[in-house]
Amino acid sequence: MHARARGGFRQPRLFAGPGSGPVSKERVIPDKYTAFAPFYDAFSGEYPVYRAGRDRGIEALGPRPGEQVLDVGCGTGLNFALLRGRIGPAGTIIGIDRSAQMLEQARRRAARAGWKNVILIQADAVFLDPAAIRSTIQGQGGSPESDAALATYSLSLMPEWRRAWTNLKALLKAEARVAVVDMKVPEGWARLLTPLAWAACALGGADITAHPWQAVEEDCTNVLRSSARAGHLQIRAGAFHKDPS
Ligand SMILES: C[S@@+](CC[C@H](N)C(=O)[O-])C[C@H]1O[C@@H](n2cnc3c(N)ncnc32)[C@H](O)[C@@H]1O
Repeated sequence: MHARARGGFRQPRLFAGPGSGPVSKERVIPDKYTAFAPFYDAFSGEYPVYRAGRDRGIEALGPRPGEQVLDVGCGTGLNFALLRGRIGPAGTIIGIDRSAQMLEQARRRAARAGWKNVILIQADAVFLDPAAIRSTIQGQGGSPESDAALATYSLSLMPEWRRAWTNLKALLKAEARVAVVDMKVPEGWARLLTPLAWAACALGGADITAHPWQAVEEDCTNVLRSSARAGHLQIRAGAFHKDPS
């Protein structure tokens, strides 16, 4: 049973500098996911476009019953039902996001569904202190290191996504599995829709040229690759082998 607050989920604020101790919340770059949070699910293009990548990413990640899965930039928790369907009541979801408003939507989603195994942490994935996050997760009844991690449509919002990737790895067990789902310009006939894809990404604050799934290609073995929506959605999953150091 995880610690709760106000009938919901505790969301510790863990903004921490890169090895330099805690920093103020003001240092974190402001984002677009504040006022928009209550409307995100309705207006994010989930069913026409983005659900397909989410489905494939989680399928490729293959979370197993009882596992702990880290959802980086979890937003309103649109991955949670799919994850929970695989890890079951004995598994745990760790949702990390820098937006308190998006996390509040995620908290409500978990509360509505009656999921007790969801730990939500407000932190910037680029600047977080992995040791502090591990200890917070443990303090809330989770395991300090997760079995698997997922980042859907979130790394492309982080200009320094490689630092977020390094932090993510520090929160995983050795031999953990990871999946990245993100966006690029469409291919083939759908190149006609490129201006639309650019506009959608710009509206959401994403860099359509970031291609953060490269990290899975570089760092993982047994990489599964797929795409959806005429290449606009890119899915990569693989096994990550952590250095013993
Ligand atoms: C487009 S939404 C995607 C949310 C969710 N992963 C999904 O698939 O619906 C991007 C999310 O990333 C979060 N985000 C952006 N930059 C972040 C950062 N540096 N650290 C943590 N979360 C971040 C935003 O607050 C937002 O909730």
